[in-house]
This record gives sequence, C-alpha cells and structure tokens, in this order.
Amino acid sequence: MSCQTIVILGMGGTIAGRSASASDNIGYTAAEVGIVELVAAIPALTDNGPVMTEQVAQIDSKDMSFSAWVALAGRVNHFLVQPDVQGIVITHGTDTLEETAYFLHRVCQPSKPVVLTCAMRPATALVPDGPQNLLDALTVARQPDAKGVVTVCAGTIHSALEVQKVHTYQLDAFSSGDAGPLGYVEEGFVRLLRNWPVAQQLPVQAAMKNIANRLASVEWPQVEIIMNYAGVSGAVVEALVAQGVQGLVVAATGNGTLHHALESALLKAQATGIKVVRATRCLNGRVLPKPDDRLPDSNGLSPVKARVELMLHLLA
Ligand code: SIN
Repeated sequence: MSCQTIVILGMGGTIAGRSASASDNIGYTAAEVGIVELVAAIPALTDNGPVMTEQVAQIDSKDMSFSAWVALAGRVNHFLVQPDVQGIVITHGTDTLEETAYFLHRVCQPSKPVVLTCAMRPATALVPDGPQNLLDALTVARQPDAKGVVTVCAGTIHSALEVQKVHTYQLDAFSSGDAGPLGYVEEGFVRLLRNWPVAQQLPVQAAMKNIANRLASVEWPQVEIIMNYAGVSGAVVEALVAQGVQGLVVAATGNGTLHHALESALLKAQATGIKVVRATRCLNGRVLPKPDDRLPDSNGLSPVKARVELMLHLLA
C-alpha cells in the first residue's frame, strides 16, 4: 500500500453522464455527475492509498475550450510538484480526449504519470464502463515507474502521442494506430509493451514548458483544419486567409497528397507568412517527407494533434 496520494481531476464527459433510462447508452447528458460522487461509487479506488478529488470543469468534451485547457494544465502542474502526489488521473469525455492528452503532454511534460480516462456509457447505464476504466487508470497512476501523459480505456493504455478515438460506440473506442498500445491493465496489474511517453530534452521542449506559465494571459492563435477530398477547391483556404487565420493544418490524402487547386491556395497562404502543416486523413501511417516537399509535414501527428502543436508553436 502506497501512502502517496493520487489526485483525480474531473473534467466531465460521458463518464459523468446521466440518462433518464438505464438501458439508454446514447440518449444521455454528458458531464452531470460530480467527481466526488463518481469516486464515492468505487470504494476499491482507495484500496492502495489515498485519493483526493477536484472538479476542474464539467463539460461535454465536444465543447472543449482553451480556458478549460488552461485551467486543467494549471491544476496538473500545481499537483505535479507536490512531493506527496504520486500521479494524477483525469476523468474526461472521449470526443476530444486525444487533443487534451497531447496538449498536456506538450505543456506539462510530466515526470509523474498523468492518466486520462473516460467512458463510452453514462454513469447511469445498466452496465457502465466508467468505474472499471477509472479503477484501471488508478492502477496505472500507482505504477511505480509510470510517467508521462497516457490514456486508459477498456483495459488498454495509450500514449498521448498516438491515441485516437476510432469508434463511435464500442467500449474499446481508442487506438494507437500502427504504433500499437503502450500496454494493458489486467486484473489490477500493468503489462507494459513500450516505454512511457516522456518528453525529450530538446530546446523546443523548454519553450513549450514555458508556455504553461503564461497560458492564462495568452491570446490563442487561430489555426484551422481543412481537408483534401475529391473536387476540393481553394475556396475555404482563401476565406480563412481573408479572415486573418494564422495557421492551417491540412488533412491531406494518403502520404500527404493534395489536389492541385487546394495545394496552390495553401502555397499562396504560406507565401504570405501563414504557417501550413500537412497531416494525413489516413488513420494509420504518417506522412513520409520527400526532399521536394513544399509544405512541411506534421511529423506523424494526426490533424487534430498537429493543430495543437501548431498553436503551441505560434504561442512559443
Ligand atoms: C464527451 O466527449 O464529453 C462526450 C462523449 C464521451 O465522453 O464519450
């Protein structure tokens, strides 16, 4: 039994959802049950040491906002430096979980575990998945060597770098694509397949970490995601440029390919100083760079994570 504390931060989501009927797994309202009530329903959470809870936000994660991110990063950083805190668990909606995980990975760079967990069924469901997910997240946070930002859902641990929501309904809704999961939680034990996701010691990391100190006062840059598809034109890019957009991430086809009309609009935007990044709309693989690339690739990040990265770069 560990005497160190695990802090559980509540952000809302389906894990805190309530529906009128226990058999209704989709017609519910997310973010209704408070973190104290969620934790109280699972006595086993305190089997291996103390926990403390804090409600940071109570939102359906489709409505995730910069201010909620700033509040969350502030509380994560506050608790990470407390010597009696072993790790942090965050209950969060599944819909933008991967973006929040990546954001925290970049600005907090924790050397302790920060574990995001969630649920696909509301807390009031006949057979909710949230309690087991929360218990598994605590197991990961209590793992002696654990570090970095990870997610836990359906017994599977994913790294913040690769995790993506890939299913609309099934309980095992996340994947790490061809990188594969980080590990599994099985009956209260962690089976690790890869190394914990720790930030590398590069100058860019220090710049990212510095952002955390001034997040509360920054003006977030406008960075939008657009997509390459059959028959696409440059119209959306032109409209965004006219509006003053500062960055564009394009979810390109295949290995970063672009319709000539969209490519020419993006090159024009880039020539005016707007940052443009090419990710791929493919679920697996990454854009492999070529020497004659005229638009930089996302370095393996999905479109939504490439957007977070680009916003942070513009802030840094
Ligand atoms: C949300 O993302 O907050 C709602 C959906 C979910 O948690 O599954």
